[in-house]
Amino acid sequence: MTRAMSSGTYLVANKNSGAEASESYRTLRTNIRFSSMGRSSKVLLVTSAKGAEGKTTTATNLAVSYAQESKKVLLIDGNLRNPSLQQVFPRARKQGLTDVLTGQCEIESAITKTAIANLSVLTAGTLPPNPSEILGSERMQALLQEVGSFYDVVLIDSPAALSVSDAQILGTMVDGVVLVANQGKVSKDSLKKVKRGMDHVNAHILGVVLNNA
Ligand SMILES: Nc1ncnc2c1ncn2[C@@H]1O[C@H](COP(=O)(O)OP(=O)(O)OP(=O)(O)O)[C@@H](O)[C@H]1O
Ligand SMILES: [Mg+2]
Repeated sequence: MTRAMSSGTYLVANKNSGAEASESYRTLRTNIRFSSMGRSSKVLLVTSAKGAEGKTTTATNLAVSYAQESKKVLLIDGNLRNPSLQQVFPRARKQGLTDVLTGQCEIESAITKTAIANLSVLTAGTLPPNPSEILGSERMQALLQEVGSFYDVVLIDSPAALSVSDAQILGTMVDGVVLVANQGKVSKDSLKKVKRGMDHVNAHILGVVLNNA
C-alpha cells in the first residue's frame, strides 16, 4: 500500500517541491511492478469505490512518475461522467476518447503530447449519452490494444466503481486495476464490494492506494 501525500495540486510528482509526494508515487510505481510480477501490466485502470477519492490525482501523478522513469506514457480520461483531464492539462485537445470511438477523428490527432517529457494525454472528448456502451465497445478494446503496443504504460482514469458499471467494464480490458481509497470516505465493505465486482470480471487489483490517509 502507498500513502499519497497531500499537496493541494494535481501534479505533485512533476516538481521537486513536492518531494514527499513524488516519492510516494514512485513507491506506488514500484509496488505495482512488484505485485504484477510475471504480468505485462501495461494498461492500468485507476478507480475507487466512491466519487472524489482521488482517482484523477492518483492517475495523473502515477503517469508523471512513469514518464520521469523515461517510460512512454499515455493517460486516458475514461471518466465520461465527470471528466477532469481537460482541467489538469488545459492545452490538451478537446477532441478525445469518445470522438475517436465514434469515428469523428483519428487517434493520432486526438492524443496531445504534454509539456512533461514522455507523457501524452487523451481527454474524454464529447460527452456521450451512453458512456457504458461506448466504453464496452469492441472499438474501445481495439483502441487499448493499439495504444498498448505503442506506449510503455497506459493509465485510464475512470468513474467510481460502485456508482456506475464503467469501471468494471473497463476492468475486463486492462492488465490491472489500481484502487484508490480515501479512508475518510470509504468503508471496508465498499472496498470489498469493488473487489468482488472486479473478481467477477477477472480483473486483477494490483494495489490499493490510501489517499489522504
Ligand atoms: N493526495 C491528495 N492531496 C491533496 N488533495 C487531494 C489529494 N487527492 C485528491 N485531492 C483533491 O481532492 C479532490 C478530489 O480528487 P480527484 O479529483 O482526484 O478525485 P476523483 O476520485 O478523481 O473524483 P471524481 O470521482 O469526481 O472523478 C480534488 O480537489 C483533489 O485536488
Ligand atoms: Mg476524477
